[in-house]
Amino acid sequence: MHEAERAATVVRALAKGLAPRVGLILGSGLGSIADAIEDAVDIGYQELPGFPASKVAGHAGRLVVGRLAGTPVVCLKGRAHLYEGAPAQALQVPVRTLKLVGCSTLFITNAAGSTRRTLKPGALMLISDHVNLTGMNPLIGANDDNFGPRFPAMEDAYDPELRADLLRLATGVRVRLREGVYLACLGPSYETPAEIRAFATMGADAVGMSTVPEVIVARHCGLKVAAISVITNFGAGLGELSAAHERVLDIAATAARDLGRLIQAWLAELAQTAP
Ligand code: HPA
Repeated sequence: MHEAERAATVVRALAKGLAPRVGLILGSGLGSIADAIEDAVDIGYQELPGFPASKVAGHAGRLVVGRLAGTPVVCLKGRAHLYEGAPAQALQVPVRTLKLVGCSTLFITNAAGSTRRTLKPGALMLISDHVNLTGMNPLIGANDDNFGPRFPAMEDAYDPELRADLLRLATGVRVRLREGVYLACLGPSYETPAEIRAFATMGADAVGMSTVPEVIVARHCGLKVAAISVITNFGAGLGELSAAHERVLDIAATAARDLGRLIQAWLAELAQTAP
């Protein structure tokens, strides 16, 4: 059996009849969003076949099932990154597991650096599109036709309807939400000032080391995607606040409160609609 199918069997047993609609992947320092999950049951990634364990500070490596604002969710606290050295294909399993347990939407959060002086640390950026500069793609290798096509489209990868909903809801809960393009680098070194200038010219508003592989796997298997970056620092050469990791986690924790409110407002609205 496929690893994602085995992992899904474990998650279904854990969920005890709850039918998850939404998968949440929480990025660096954003794991506290999962604290509001009711009737939460959780399990370590080491118990889930094919789940790559993350060893980075701020990434817990636990899957949590339960209800958040009335909607059944599966939450992935922590993720593996390409820079940790796992093959890009290893990032398929967690996302496909979410699909197999019945989720129709994937909501991703991450910490990112800004390429624009007007997008300041502490801001929340709804991702409207991405540029993949990791040099990798998680779909390299034989295509699994059970999940999706060989050449999946990446137009409207970040669901336009979902984005409109989130922008509307953000106003309602008094959260300032900007939209922008996320550019993914391989890492783990941060960017040079020349790279940040180049990325801004290319149309990127924020830069990070995650999310894009998961989005590609999710779109391939037909999950709807929404993603929000917490801007934790200015990119190199743009300002005082550098990207030293502890500081990144600190700012992420503050913005996580706003982001948590927004996610809960969205899930509360979703709970009113039929799956
Ligand atoms: N660059 C890349 N990844 C990041 C950054 C950054 O400035 N901040 C948080 N993640």
